[in-house]
Amino acid sequence: MIKSPEARGKLEKLTPYTYGAPVVLLVCYDMNTVWKNPREHLLKDYNSGEQDAAIAAVNMMYAAEELGIHTLWARGFDAREVRMELGLPESVVPALILDMGYPVPDSRPHPIHFRRMPVEDMVTEL
Ligand SMILES: Cc1cc2nc3c(=O)[nH]c(=O)nc-3n(C[C@H](O)[C@H](O)[C@H](O)COP(=O)(O)O)c2cc1C
Repeated sequence: MIKSPEARGKLEKLTPYTYGAPVVLLVCYDMNTVWKNPREHLLKDYNSGEQDAAIAAVNMMYAAEELGIHTLWARGFDAREVRMELGLPESVVPALILDMGYPVPDSRPHPIHFRRMPVEDMVTEL
């Protein structure tokens, strides 16, 4: 959890996508403990870290929403820079940030939030 002015300042130097949030969750995985798939040959050195982090982050978003806290998911940063700046162990990979904050009373989702892709463009029946 990135909350202190010092820690927020470090992150804000590396990405504009904290948008001044008072609390930012940095969701990471650890290469020492992540699941590696010995059956995978299509993707070189595949591991489940990104998927694991995404599952955890989505659940964090739901939990925050229950508390009236809004979140923004961002990956616009260099993971190595973030790891080094925050002094995280070398095995730890920052996967994404979740900016957290209470919405202003008249806040609205961005218009593209309401755009929907036709289901046929996303689902292929085999
Ligand atoms: C993998 C991924 C990375 C993203 N990275 C950023 C980012 O770096 N900065 C940003 O402003 N939004 C980023 N977004 C977009 C927003 O978090 C969010 O998905 C977008 O505003 C649409 O959300 P909504 O449909 O709930 O309104 C990213 C989204 C995804 C899925």
